[in-house]
Amino acid sequence: MALRIVGKKAQRVGLGHVRGLQSFSLPDLPYDYGALEPVISAEIMQLHHQKHHQTYISNYNKALEQLDHALSKADSPTIVRLQSAIKFNGGGHINHSIFWKNLAPIREGGGEPPKASLGWAIDTQFGSLESLMQKVNAEGAALQGSGWVWLALDKEQQKLSVETTANQDPLVTKGSALAPLFGIDVWEHAYYLQYKNVKADYLKNIWKVINWKYSSEVYEKESPCLRQ
Ligand SMILES: [Fe+2]
Repeated sequence: MALRIVGKKAQRVGLGHVRGLQSFSLPDLPYDYGALEPVISAEIMQLHHQKHHQTYISNYNKALEQLDHALSKADSPTIVRLQSAIKFNGGGHINHSIFWKNLAPIREGGGEPPKASLGWAIDTQFGSLESLMQKVNAEGAALQGSGWVWLALDKEQQKLSVETTANQDPLVTKGSALAPLFGIDVWEHAYYLQYKNVKADYLKNIWKVINWKYSSEVYEKESPCLRQ
């Protein structure tokens, strides 16, 4: 994810530690806003990227600046108070940065089933790709309020699982060994303008633009046994 140094390159903080004040910026989408139509409209993609994702980043940067200031003053109450804003907005930035890469236009391979090692692992652990999709859709539909549904790889046990997280909690909050192969945004802002209240149709259709190639690359990178 994009990272740049802003303002003074380094600041003297607390007990003489010197560190840079860092901020995050909106990553470009790897496709045009209209490229996922008719599955996800250009209007949703543009708002989702330019407004929602940007707002998480702006608020994340603001909270990090406040944290930097609070650290320099050894202001513990403020340091602790900022944790929830950092988790929510930083999580929003992490999750959306993954989400854009999880999607691909149909003409560029979106929706093409996973092959090789990931395809085999899904068949072995879920029975079939269809079974996995049904499980993801059922868990996504059952998620109350806002959140995400994930296909996770437990890097230590080399096991796949379907997980959900509430709000903008990133997958790592469910376990430090979990790597996200894909995450589906099931906040209303991800589908409401097009699918209205029918979340099930959004979940059913999104498989047509899932970028399994990206998921396979993450799977292979995070699987030590495949690298030997
Ligand atoms: Fe979102």
